Amino acid sequence: MYKILKKEALNPTVTRMVIDAPHVARRAKAGQFIILRVDEAGERIPLTIAGADPETGEVTIIFQVVGKTTMLLNAMDEGQQLQDFAGPLGRPSEIEGDSVCIIGGGVGCAIALPTARAFHDEGKRVTAITGFRNRDLVILEDEFRAASDEFHLMSDDGTAGEKGLVTDKLEALIQAGHHFDKVIAIGPIVMMKFVTRTAQKYGIPVVVSMNPIMIDGTGMCGGCRLKVGDEIRFACVDGPDFDGALVDFDEAASRNRAYLDFEQREREEACR
Ligand code: FES
Repeated sequence: MYKILKKEALNPTVTRMVIDAPHVARRAKAGQFIILRVDEAGERIPLTIAGADPETGEVTIIFQVVGKTTMLLNAMDEGQQLQDFAGPLGRPSEIEGDSVCIIGGGVGCAIALPTARAFHDEGKRVTAITGFRNRDLVILEDEFRAASDEFHLMSDDGTAGEKGLVTDKLEALIQAGHHFDKVIAIGPIVMMKFVTRTAQKYGIPVVVSMNPIMIDGTGMCGGCRLKVGDEIRFACVDGPDFDGALVDFDEAASRNRAYLDFEQREREEACR
């Protein structure tokens, strides 16, 4: 069992929890994830490791309430215990390139932050761009400022930071002469698709972090399959990071939509 040590609402639908999980904390690297179950009958859901302290054994997760399991998780309090907390899983992000632009969209910022920290801790130049629909949804602003050399906050309606899309800022920075060895994008599929297109226009390599439905997290069930180039890859063992230029974003979006409809029905059932 894994005790919830701290719980904090970051915005109306996004929560940060610190879990006592020393075996995960000791080995976790940026980009990896865990699979948890709330209770014995619960489904398994993957969540990216947002932070880990090998000395205290604490692992931070950040999640958005989107379905039945995240709703049940969000209803738990400090002191309660999770049934399973398996990990770290997946391949760690590659911390390569001297100057990188890390882009987070919405709750994807929770995944982008440990990657930004890993580059920053190695002395690489980090430009971070985060984007949200409006001020109420902004998360991790202070943490991104601390983990980057340059930080830009964007919002669709202009109520936080600058008005505009993350792709607008990326393009403006490139045109102003910023050099990036690599762009890393983590967020909604449509955002990653258009960040990829923008970076490709300027010949900059792009890495995207894919977060499809996962079941076993071991490459056996096929739930997390993605089309990458001519191949079928599994996000849980081959990713979650992939070359954005090769990912079939449209296919990933259509699989995700089918899953969200299912989640909506399950959530309504759980609320009855
Ligand atoms: Fe089952 Fe990846 S979660 S193959």
